[in-house]
Amino acid sequence: MLLRDVEYGDVDAYVRMRCDPAMMVDLGGPLPREGMESKVRRDVQRAGSGTDWIKMIVPDEAEPDVVAGTVTLWPHDTDVEHISEIGWMVLPEFQGRGFGKQGVRMLLELARDDGRWGLIHAFPATANAASNGICRSLGFRSLGEQDVTFAGRVLRTNHWTIHPRTDLT
Ligand SMILES: CC(C)(COP(=O)(O)OP(=O)(O)OC[C@H]1O[C@@H](n2cnc3c(N)ncnc32)[C@H](O)[C@@H]1OP(=O)(O)O)[C@@H](O)C(=O)NCCC(=O)NCCS
Repeated sequence: MLLRDVEYGDVDAYVRMRCDPAMMVDLGGPLPREGMESKVRRDVQRAGSGTDWIKMIVPDEAEPDVVAGTVTLWPHDTDVEHISEIGWMVLPEFQGRGFGKQGVRMLLELARDDGRWGLIHAFPATANAASNGICRSLGFRSLGEQDVTFAGRVLRTNHWTIHPRTDLT
C-alpha cells in the first residue's frame, strides 16, 4: 500500500466517496455531484503547493489509478484557534481491511518526520465506530464530544488529538 498526491483523474473516486448517501451518512449526507470537478481541482492545487496534504490510498503500487480511499491533513481556523486537522474515507469495497488505519498511520508518520504540523486534531462522528477505532488504536487522546460544522452541516463528533512525535503507537 502507498499514499500518493491527489490528481485530476481522481474525480470518479471523489464522486463515489462524497456523493454517495452511505459513504456520507456520518458527514451530513451526500454532496452535490456538480461540485466535484472544482473540488478536485482545488485539492490538486493545494496538494501541489504543499499547504494541504491530500493523499489517495493506493492498495497496489503496480496500479496507482486504483484507489481505496483518501487521507488528508490540512491547516485551518476554528472559532477559537488555528489547528491541523486530519480526516479520511475508505470506499465500501475496501472497508474493513485495514486500509483506513494504515493510511492514517502513514500520514501521521510523514507529519512526525516533517515536524511542522504540531498537535493534530480529528473529529469523527460519534456514531462512526470504525473511525473512532482508528483514533483509539493509533494513540489519539479523547477530548470529549463536540459539535463541528462540515460543508454547512452541524455534526456531533468526538474530538481527538495526537502529537505524532510522542503519541503515535
Ligand atoms: C470509517 C472508515 C474510514 C474506516 O476505514 P476502514 O479501512 O474500513 O477501517 P480499518 O479496516 O482500517 O479498521 C479501523 C479500525 O476500526 C475497526 N472497525 C472497522 N470497521 C468497523 C465497524 N464497522 N465497526 C466497528 N469497528 C470497525 C477495525 O477493527 C479497526 O480497529 P482495530 O485496529 O482495533 O482492529 C471507512 O469505513 C469509511 O470511509 N466509512 C465511510 C465514510 C466515513 O465514515 N468517513 C469518516 C468520517 S469521520
